[in-house]
Amino acid sequence: MKLSAVVTGAARGIGRDVVVRLRGAGYRVVAVDVSPAVADLAEDGWVVPMTADVAADATPGAVVERATVEFGRLDLLVNNAARFLRRPILETSDDDFDALFATNVRPVFRFARAALPHLARSRGCIVNTASISGLVGVPNQVVYAMTKGAIVQLTRQLAVEWAARGVRVNAVAPGAVDTGFMDEARSADPDPAASLAVTLGNHPIGRMSTPDEVARAIVFLASPESAGITGTILSVDGGYVAR
Ligand SMILES: NC(=O)c1ccc[n+]([C@@H]2O[C@H](COP(=O)([O-])OP(=O)(O)OC[C@H]3O[C@@H](n4cnc5c(N)ncnc54)[C@H](O)[C@@H]3O)[C@@H](O)[C@H]2O)c1
Repeated sequence: MKLSAVVTGAARGIGRDVVVRLRGAGYRVVAVDVSPAVADLAEDGWVVPMTADVAADATPGAVVERATVEFGRLDLLVNNAARFLRRPILETSDDDFDALFATNVRPVFRFARAALPHLARSRGCIVNTASISGLVGVPNQVVYAMTKGAIVQLTRQLAVEWAARGVRVNAVAPGAVDTGFMDEARSADPDPAASLAVTLGNHPIGRMSTPDEVARAIVFLASPESAGITGTILSVDGGYVAR
């Protein structure tokens, strides 16, 4: 039996490594990203790339339908797409707030809602990408942190509500990961190197995680190895929240 997955935010970073790991584990994958670079992942009969904005109303339904039509089943949803915003509250507009929730939260809810009936049939899983910012306070990330806190709670809520139907729902909470994700915010700092040093100093491991380290945690939470785990937020943060 070939398993099938949907991964959002798959064009680069953590999402891309999740697709590669899932492919290695024998999954067929619908890989979604707003960036056309997701097309590079195409592999006949195995990886179907879709260029789409997760925030668009039609996207979750269309993606889930594509996976079930193409592969006949859905075993895993990885809600990973998000944008970063480092901005203190007094500089954060209503539009900033609405735009970040529209990208980081609403699609996670809508993808889950579209996928859950299929996951109940396959006794499948959802793995969401949260963040340490959804678990502890991190300066100047107020709205981003709120979006990740919402994902943490959605994860727990769906885990409790769907356990009896055989669906497990977990999340990973990465600390700083070596992707392009925060580079833009950091490059706007007066001293990006000093800002990076502060970030690394907050991680006992003394370095950023690699995207593949996060991807491996996501694949673990999707695998039978974690059959007894649901509603868990697994930190992949080099010890950040342990301090
Ligand atoms: N990099 C970090 O330090 C870090 C830390 C904690 C959590 N995270 C989380 O990890 C996840 C992946 O981040 P990453 O580091 O791989 O970042 P990344 O920027 O390398 O990758 C994110 C991908 O999501 C896509 N994306 C963004 N908005 C989208 C939209 N509206 N529709 C479809 N695709 C969209 C981007 O095009 C990109 O390919 C995110 O949820 C992020 O919040 C990252």
